[in-house]
Amino acid sequence: MFEIAPSILSADFARLAEEIRAVEEGGATVLHVDVMDGQFVPNITIGLPVVESIRKATSLTIDTHLMIEEPSRYAVKFVEAGANMVSVHVEADVHLQRTLCSIRDAGGQSGIAINPATPLVSLEEALPFADFILLMSVNPGFGGQKFIHTSIDKLRRLRRMIDERGLPTRIEIDGGIDAGNIQKIVESGAEIIVAGSAVFGDGKPTEAVRKLIDAATVWV
Ligand code: DX5
Ligand code: ZN
Repeated sequence: MFEIAPSILSADFARLAEEIRAVEEGGATVLHVDVMDGQFVPNITIGLPVVESIRKATSLTIDTHLMIEEPSRYAVKFVEAGANMVSVHVEADVHLQRTLCSIRDAGGQSGIAINPATPLVSLEEALPFADFILLMSVNPGFGGQKFIHTSIDKLRRLRRMIDERGLPTRIEIDGGIDAGNIQKIVESGAEIIVAGSAVFGDGKPTEAVRKLIDAATVWV
């Protein structure tokens, strides 16, 4: 089974509650919130007060993707603000295992985000402490980028790595996903599918989520 996680980065922030209701109506179950600090990535987005407001507006699972330096300073605060899932980048945290445990201790699901050029081997030691891996299929920072095609092979290898260890870790994938490539991505082992521009790009988010679910479903 897979879940669609619309990324609000491509939504109309002035009508956020409405946009969230629209994706929920389409069948989305997770809301992906991109937090950027202008340091780890060359863009600035939103932070804790917005997550607090979203928490009041929806019962969807809130998934905060922290693209920030020193994520250990903020990870628990995002759980306290209402996030259910919090991912930190393996490239940004020298004490990753501790940060993952702190997210779990606070009651959240812990995630490790990994950039396209970072090898999977960097996940090995921390894997048992992560509830999910967020595999980046674009370099983070912006919506609307092209899916990096080598991500499919990386996804398959990650699937194997988790399964061989008998771990329950889920795989989320983020960047450049649309109705044209989602089926292959789901078949390759991803369970949570982030989509920003494919959901909010044409102003019809409910239909867009339905279209993605349809495109990903293998009818037998
Ligand atoms: C990129 C973000 C993504 C982004 C995805 O840095 O992490 O979540 O919103 O957008 P699309 O689906 O348009 O690539
Ligand atoms: Zn993201």
